[in-house]
Amino acid sequence: MNRNTHPAIVTVRPSEPLQILQVETPKPVDNEVKLIVQWTASGPLDHHQASAHLLVTPPQILGDGVAGTILQVGPNVTRYKPGDEVFGFVWRNAKEKAHQLYCVAPENLLGKVPEGKSMQEAVVLGNNFVTVWHVFTNDFEFELPWDRGVEGGAKGKPEGYKPRKNETETEDGRKKWILVWGGSSSCGMYGIQVLKYYGYENIIAVAGSKHHETLKRYGAKECFDYRGGGDVVERVKEFVRKDGGEVSYIFDCIGSQDGSLRPVARIAGADGCRIAILLPVVVKDAAPGIKPEYEMDVTSCADWAKNVTPVGVRTHFWMDNKVLAGTLQTEIMPWALETGVIEPNEQIVVEGHTMLERAQSAMDMLRDKKVSGGRLVWRIAEEGQIAEALKELKQ
Ligand SMILES: NC(=O)c1ccc[n+]([C@@H]2O[C@H](COP(=O)([O-])OP(=O)(O)OC[C@H]3O[C@@H](n4cnc5c(N)ncnc54)[C@H](OP(=O)(O)O)[C@@H]3O)[C@@H](O)[C@H]2O)c1
Repeated sequence: MNRNTHPAIVTVRPSEPLQILQVETPKPVDNEVKLIVQWTASGPLDHHQASAHLLVTPPQILGDGVAGTILQVGPNVTRYKPGDEVFGFVWRNAKEKAHQLYCVAPENLLGKVPEGKSMQEAVVLGNNFVTVWHVFTNDFEFELPWDRGVEGGAKGKPEGYKPRKNETETEDGRKKWILVWGGSSSCGMYGIQVLKYYGYENIIAVAGSKHHETLKRYGAKECFDYRGGGDVVERVKEFVRKDGGEVSYIFDCIGSQDGSLRPVARIAGADGCRIAILLPVVVKDAAPGIKPEYEMDVTSCADWAKNVTPVGVRTHFWMDNKVLAGTLQTEIMPWALETGVIEPNEQIVVEGHTMLERAQSAMDMLRDKKVSGGRLVWRIAEEGQIAEALKELKQ
């Protein structure tokens, strides 16, 4: 193995097979750590980037979910030491990206893999855990207060914490409902679990029926199948009408023009209803021989009522919240995994003889829409590379 370079998975041309590129291995500086990447997760953003070069400058290294062992730390690192097993959401530049043998990232983008949990389980949180926290605090303005706890005390929400009254009830005392469209997506499943933990009870999910039991266990009061025959929009509206309440918050975890935005726009009619839509909006899906089309302006993709606020979400700006920038990935995310506040998505392990084979298989599965209620995970470093790196650590 050349010590100054290492292999990375890159997209070179839209929709073409992924390639391996030897890239320079940087040394960690300041508050950065260098890790050997042992597990990664592939998700829709990797697919959007590889199939359409959405916001990509080729050759672009892919991947934003990482789990591995720290090999080296920069001079200003305070939390971690070589040998620590960490995981997180890394996305900003080539040295941070996940689909490469070594990743160099600032320590605040990583948390420790909790005792009793594996890297394989932890790697599925990253992007989507951060996304739901960002959507709820930034777009819905839910507080989600989180205390470190004192010595021996419990970490988590302050004792007795409840959502504010105006988040759960209208002025005339009717229920405010939160609709999670795409409840069985990775974001949807984390979203519902976080809402339940903080005491939000009025949750409706739209998802395939095989996931309804799980979503109810996570905290959804009622679930609707978007493929279940009839008009799912009418079924949701009827449910809320009978309840006498209104849909006041909508988390569109799918961002499909026809599959979610347009239906959601038919539901969003209550004054001030907030709608957070995960970008990009998929106007046309990628398929073999079909060029995908994306849109970033959510207002132009559906007929929205005048009294509602649809917003396109880009989690890449989550660190604008300086408090969360220091705690979300380092403390809150590992705590949520350790305590069971979040059940990690089911892991679908993608096999292959090489890192490139695994990367390509994962990409093909995403394109062919083979993921339902789970997350694709795969190994980056080979067993021998891990053993060698860990042996050097001990010397
Ligand atoms: N902008 C951002 O900051 C940001 C952050 C994270 C994710 N995203 C985007 O958000 C989207 C979802 O990401 P993810 O990782 O959570 O997805 P995912 O887990 O891969 O989503 C797969 C799920 O989507 C469900 N689904 C597909 N079409 C649907 C529809 N029309 N209505 C309801 N459910 C539908 C399927 O449900 P069933 O199996 O039940 O049929 C499947 O379980 C992606 O486009 C991603 O790029 C954006």
